[in-house]
Amino acid sequence: MKQRVLTTRAALPGGGIARLASDAEVVAWPGTSKPEPRDLAELAKGASAILALGNDRVDAALLDAAGPSLRVVALASMGYDAVDREAAAERGVVVTHTPGVLAETTADLTFALVLMARRRLGAARDSLAAGQWGLFRMDDYLGLDVHGATLGLIGYGQIGRAVARRSQGFGMRVLHHDPYAPDDALSTSVDLPTLLAEADVVSLHVPLTPQTRHLIGAAELAAMKPTATLVSTSRGGVVDEDALLRALRDGSIHSAGLDVFEREPMGQELSPLVAEPHAVTLPHIGSATEATRAAMVDLAVDNIQDVLAGGPARTPIPGGAAMPGQDRAPRPVGGRGAR
Ligand code: DGY
Repeated sequence: MKQRVLTTRAALPGGGIARLASDAEVVAWPGTSKPEPRDLAELAKGASAILALGNDRVDAALLDAAGPSLRVVALASMGYDAVDREAAAERGVVVTHTPGVLAETTADLTFALVLMARRRLGAARDSLAAGQWGLFRMDDYLGLDVHGATLGLIGYGQIGRAVARRSQGFGMRVLHHDPYAPDDALSTSVDLPTLLAEADVVSLHVPLTPQTRHLIGAAELAAMKPTATLVSTSRGGVVDEDALLRALRDGSIHSAGLDVFEREPMGQELSPLVAEPHAVTLPHIGSATEATRAAMVDLAVDNIQDVLAGGPARTPIPGGAAMPGQDRAPRPVGGRGAR
């Protein structure tokens, strides 16, 4: 009998799902809105694997709804903050994610946000579209330079390093703050106060953990330059959004470029940051290219197939087990999940 695999979305890019369906019974959440926990619990019954997205809550209730057949939860995302890792470990369920396939694409988008925010491209485009470009003026649409600026990366993992590489084309000086990453040819390791004081662009590349929740709050924003830009493509919870809104409104920083929010998705209930003139905001599209999203689904499917075939997962989450029922693996050297 074919093993049952739940996918939390019906539409997933690439050929991964067709490959999965060749030897498993694939059931998908058919809805177009985010599934409620009870919807997924119902579909998960008897599943051997669940393919979930980064912001689907995977908790003890969902794992228990699937029951003892469940061996692997494969995330089509790098971030795994929505998974109750303890609950999965207690039940011997392997959790996997998708490192190595989305860093370059997310770094591209990070740079797009840097340029949009510092050069105020969204406002300029809106003004053009509204028919307000009536006179070529020297003092209109003025932004701040990106070339030659100092880039401060908080978190220096795959994505942070990919952003650092791009910054070389802009002649930027690069600093990073990451207790696990020493200086390298591109960037100098500094403490957080130094980074906040010296960076013109502060870009966040840390996972969301209890330690990084609201890592950037009122005090950190006050420590940044009034000409600084804050960019985040990591997780909304890393920034205290109320404090950020105040900092943008009172001019204590220049601008923000945000792809991620504390509450996602937003639907009609927009965060006030969306209407804030000094912020550019996007709907969590860091990895959203056809090739990268297909690669993420592919890797999630590889993980499912490997585990269901009795082998180790290719990309278990850091500190997690690679085989169902296995004790937790030791932390990989240098691994702490920086993005
Ligand atoms: C990731 O891979 O973590 C992206 O943010 C999509 O969830």
